[in-house]
Amino acid sequence: MQYERPLFLLLSSLLAAAPIGCAADPPSQPEGWDTEVALRPALDRDARPEVVEVDLTARVEEVEIVPGMKTPTWAYNGGLPGPLIRARVGDRVIVNFRNELSAPTTVHWHGVRLLAEMDGAPGHSQPETPPGGSFTYDFVVPDAGLYWYHPHVDSAVQAGNGLYGPLLVEDPGEPADIGDELVLVLSDIGLRDDGTLVDPTVGGNLGTVFGREGELLLVNGRVNPVIEARAGLRQRWRIVNAAKSRYYQLAITDHRFLRIGGDGGLLEHPVASDTILLTPGERADVLVTPRGAPGSTLSVRWVPYDRGYGATFARPEVEAFRLRIANEPAAEDEPLPELSRTIEALDTSAATRVDLKLTQREGPGDVVMGINGVASWEADPLLAAVGETWVWTVENTMEFDHPFHLHGFFFQVLGADGKPVRPMEWKDTVNVPVDGAARFAVRYDNRPGMWMFHCHILDHAEAGMMGMLQVMP
Ligand code: C2O
Ligand code: CU
Repeated sequence: MQYERPLFLLLSSLLAAAPIGCAADPPSQPEGWDTEVALRPALDRDARPEVVEVDLTARVEEVEIVPGMKTPTWAYNGGLPGPLIRARVGDRVIVNFRNELSAPTTVHWHGVRLLAEMDGAPGHSQPETPPGGSFTYDFVVPDAGLYWYHPHVDSAVQAGNGLYGPLLVEDPGEPADIGDELVLVLSDIGLRDDGTLVDPTVGGNLGTVFGREGELLLVNGRVNPVIEARAGLRQRWRIVNAAKSRYYQLAITDHRFLRIGGDGGLLEHPVASDTILLTPGERADVLVTPRGAPGSTLSVRWVPYDRGYGATFARPEVEAFRLRIANEPAAEDEPLPELSRTIEALDTSAATRVDLKLTQREGPGDVVMGINGVASWEADPLLAAVGETWVWTVENTMEFDHPFHLHGFFFQVLGADGKPVRPMEWKDTVNVPVDGAARFAVRYDNRPGMWMFHCHILDHAEAGMMGMLQVMP
């Protein structure tokens, strides 16, 4: 009877290969469609379904960003971006972090509503992890969405050198068939001719004020990769902008995007648009249905966004990545599942109001930015209490936009009339336009502690545009 098993396997594989039912199979993306943008998955060492335990090590690693050239980058688990950590809503995530860099660092879990002790804010949640040191992050992920992780020590240098990675929290209750999913980590990097990293202080004060952008655009660590597509078949792109300063505005000729989600999961309802804008730190969940002749290529372009004085001057568009339409007949449009979500507007009738100004100090020496004229290193924390609702108004007094990020809590963006902007969504990063303001409402749920807020142009944050919010129990 020793042939029993192989015979069974042979029979079942013959059956699987049989053409029965093929005509009814739903159309699929071309074989290997996402190979060029595949992310390395973080290995889950815990067998329990509701626990994700991964090892994360930061060290300098030679990475081939430009073919044939080695670039020593600062990398998580030896590659750029860091590995994709995948969890489901309510899971416990344990990250065994090791610092093998020559500098101290921490890991911040951007957007996750975790306890302050796990937030990676040096001096507030934890001491810096020294070279050779380690730290165990242990938290629950309560909300579906795409998040990301990056250092919070010398962040412009450390994230700019390659330390960033995605954390995807999936909702098993989400409708199936939203679209074939890709996680896209957008960033940029500056390289010298020999492949080494550009000096992070390049451009001096002017570089700091503008925010340093690397001239190479990266999509999952690759320059201008190709995604294969079947015409007419929806793709779902979960995008994070992990660049330290660059605003990402994307466009595809003759195509529209359907944005279904943002920083904190799905929107109230989807919105269609010609372009998608992500400021540093923001995420977008978008549907794209590629159309074109078999064998043709669509260009997904980075389009300069006017974030203030000179930001679009003489800057050409750049092809960020491409979509290649397969040699297959176009698929029929599949109806989109219902994607509405009920988001209750926060009651702001008794809210505490706080007004902040984003500022730059005049004077000699290194440029100093701040909030209300005060740099982060000399600022006192704002004081709040668990259960309070606040309305923040963040005003811009500078000639550049600033993406404003609050740690630990989602907020609802308000219009000038004080009403939530529709469709409503939960956000943790919002653009503050030149000569304008951003307003948002936030409720401090029961997670007391010290939380940071700052401009996510990391050169600005490190120049002082950061502050703290202390939520008392
Ligand atoms: Cu992604 Cu304090 O930030
Ligand atoms: Cu800024």
